[in-house]
Amino acid sequence: MSYVQIDRLSKRFKETTVLNQVSLSIEKGELITLLGPSGCGKSTLLRCIAGLTEVEDGGKIVVGETDITNLAPKDREVGMVFQSYALFPNMNVFG
Ligand SMILES: Nc1ncnc2c1ncn2[C@@H]1O[C@H](COP(=O)(O)OP(=O)(O)OP(=O)(O)O)[C@@H](O)[C@H]1O
Ligand SMILES: [Mg+2]
Repeated sequence: MSYVQIDRLSKRFKETTVLNQVSLSIEKGELITLLGPSGCGKSTLLRCIAGLTEVEDGGKIVVGETDITNLAPKDREVGMVFQSYALFPNMNVFG
């Protein structure tokens, strides 16, 4: 069994389906890249794994032996570097 198992993960924002039954296996130590056009759902998938975005019922995320699908972000031991890491994206340094 792979270290990270993503099983039929779906995410909708209102009527827009961004993730449609995505399944993915990642081995321990494996370096993996999500490649796709802007808006295809790469960040959404990462946010779902980190627990920052709730997924639709039925999807599952397992890390090691633990089903983390419904755990709080702080209990997942998953880190994420945000695409935009400005704390206040609407302000400049002087602001
Ligand atoms: N909180 C949200 N509410 C509504 N729609 C959202 C939300 N977050 C993302 N979306 C929409 O979901 C889709 C996927 O967005 P996402 O940010 O995952 O794309 P991406 O693949 O990371 O794009 P990029 O390459 O530009 O970073 C886009 O259509 C986006 O507008
Ligand atoms: Mg992105």
